[in-house]
Amino acid sequence: MRDKVEELNRIHLGKPAEEVLGWFLSEFKGRIALSSSMGVEDQVLTDMIMKIAPDTRIFTLDTGRLFYETYELIERTTLRYKKKIEIYFPDPADVEKMVTEKGINLFYQSIENRKECCRVRKLVPLKRAFQGLDVWICGLRRSQSATRTENQLIEWDEANGLLKLNPLIEWSEKQVWDYVKQHGVPYNPLHDKGYPSIGCQPCTRAIEPGEDIRAGRWWWEKPETKECGLHNRKK
Ligand code: ADX
Ligand code: SF4
Repeated sequence: MRDKVEELNRIHLGKPAEEVLGWFLSEFKGRIALSSSMGVEDQVLTDMIMKIAPDTRIFTLDTGRLFYETYELIERTTLRYKKKIEIYFPDPADVEKMVTEKGINLFYQSIENRKECCRVRKLVPLKRAFQGLDVWICGLRRSQSATRTENQLIEWDEANGLLKLNPLIEWSEKQVWDYVKQHGVPYNPLHDKGYPSIGCQPCTRAIEPGEDIRAGRWWWEKPETKECGLHNRKK
């Protein structure tokens, strides 16, 4: 499928997100899923998917360190769409060993520790969630950060051997919020309190006006290292 990426981008780039999603959901039926962080972009995608092909798998990685508001949103979204969201946990033995050896809040001590925590709590469970998939859908947008300016609508995810579809890649923040308002999409109340990008609670803070959208994620690190490994790009 790797060789199809260029052609798929040529065909689909510039088309409305719903149309692109519709094509992929039908073409890859049963082998495509939304990976949702429950962030506002993913909530928009959930709303679109539920209107196009509601039997599509939607999963989220529960790292065990999410905000209370995020858990509450998982619940509200499940009720609103009458949809079972699959929840993936990290391996308890891996977490126990890691935090016993390196400390419960190991991520603040070094980039190495932070990446290890993201590996155990997100990347390993993500591999399990990927079983049976050819395509994973994500809510990446280019204007989210310096690390995402080169992301494409359709990408080949070399590390996982999957196609990655970013239907909102060209969307602005305003377009996202316009959609939310228009369709009454449930969203995390933290977005209204200075948190445009929400990850784990200990690794996310509110941003000041004028700061980069992702400035509150792993705020103690340099912008170049601020990806958890879910979206590393091979050049
Ligand atoms: S992250 O890599 O910095 O955590 P971000 O929060 O911007 O990513 O989310 C980008 C995309 O990664 C989301 O739209 C979603 O597809 C995926 N993602 C991030 N966190 C999770 C999660 N906890 N569970 C499932 N998917 C996630
Ligand atoms: Fe661990 Fe922080 Fe990564 Fe969450 S974001 S998995 S708490 S290092």
